[in-house]
Amino acid sequence: MTYAAFRSIGAYIPEKIMTNADFEKLIDTTDEWITKRTGIRERRVAAKNEASSDLGFKAAAQAIERAGIAKDEIDLVICATVTPDYLCMPSTACLIASKLDLPPVQAFDVSAACTGFVYALSIAKAFIESGMKKNVLIVGAEKYTSILDYTDRGTCFIFGDGAGAAIISATSNKDEAIVDVNCSSDGNYNDLIQTPGGGSLHPCSQEVLDQKMACIKMKGNETFKLAVKTLTSDVQVMLKKHNLVSADINHFIPHQANIRIIQAVGKALGMNEEQTVVTIDKYGNTSAASIPMAMNYAFENGKIKKGHSVLFDAFGSGLTWGSALFPFSPK
Ligand code: UT7
Repeated sequence: MTYAAFRSIGAYIPEKIMTNADFEKLIDTTDEWITKRTGIRERRVAAKNEASSDLGFKAAAQAIERAGIAKDEIDLVICATVTPDYLCMPSTACLIASKLDLPPVQAFDVSAACTGFVYALSIAKAFIESGMKKNVLIVGAEKYTSILDYTDRGTCFIFGDGAGAAIISATSNKDEAIVDVNCSSDGNYNDLIQTPGGGSLHPCSQEVLDQKMACIKMKGNETFKLAVKTLTSDVQVMLKKHNLVSADINHFIPHQANIRIIQAVGKALGMNEEQTVVTIDKYGNTSAASIPMAMNYAFENGKIKKGHSVLFDAFGSGLTWGSALFPFSPK
């Protein structure tokens, strides 16, 4: 039997920092309100000439180096993003593969918003377990500042830019195996988080530009309630299925959308502060990059060690959601 092992993690954090004080100059808000309601203190902003593929490329290069594999051993590249370099084509995954100087390789994007990295992980696992691929590079890369409306005071201060990446490889050792990845969606809630214009329903037009319809619009409060409910039940199902309790998890890594969501979910699940990885204060919400950036943060701080159990818990536009349970298994 072939299993899929989570071999390495990497990230790229753009240099430029935008603080809550910077938003006080842009919108009717205060540092105190943003910190209290979201936990965000600052977020990163990619340079003008940096696109999502540039962020993803740097995160991927680090993940490849840490996995200790040769570039030509990678046989699949998946990029989770909703801020691709190009609206329709080519895919950001193709651009990342090119920037990494990989030989010709299967490469494609996944669109599942903030759940994208967990969706990519589920695909990597399936490709490897089926025997079709051996080393899969998965990337979550977002330049959210490219779809923000800086006059929308309910949304613009939440999101930031960044990327995270991982190498998932075939193994015959069951102890290294990704235990489970469970993803789902409900398109009936598609209107909660949208970029309403610029796609095939409302193609780019003067109206789309004038009304900033290609920017993200979010019904924050409704989304908040569903996020807490879904992120909690998702993990409860996962733990029950594998006869585990919260104390069996070394690192609980929820999507970084709002500290109040993370705390409410953590409390409902019985995850303590030590177990729960939090980066929302530093990076804001980076959508598909949020979970791998948080994992990389914990890894670089010496918290995540070989064999530790990790639990991802994601939720985003679609609506989409997903969780993943695995031991960190570097070689
Ligand atoms: O990543 C995908 C998943 N995303 C999420 O899960 C996001 C979930 N939602 C949230 O994180 C929160 O809903 C927000 C942070 C977006 C908003 O916080 P909230 O506590 O839900 O605010 P609200 O929209 O209910 O508004 C409460 C009050 C309103 O004032 P009144 O009517 O009570 O007087 C707003 O006008 O806060 C006001 N407000 C602000 N005040 C200062 C809204 N935005 C701001 C702002 N600064 N930026």
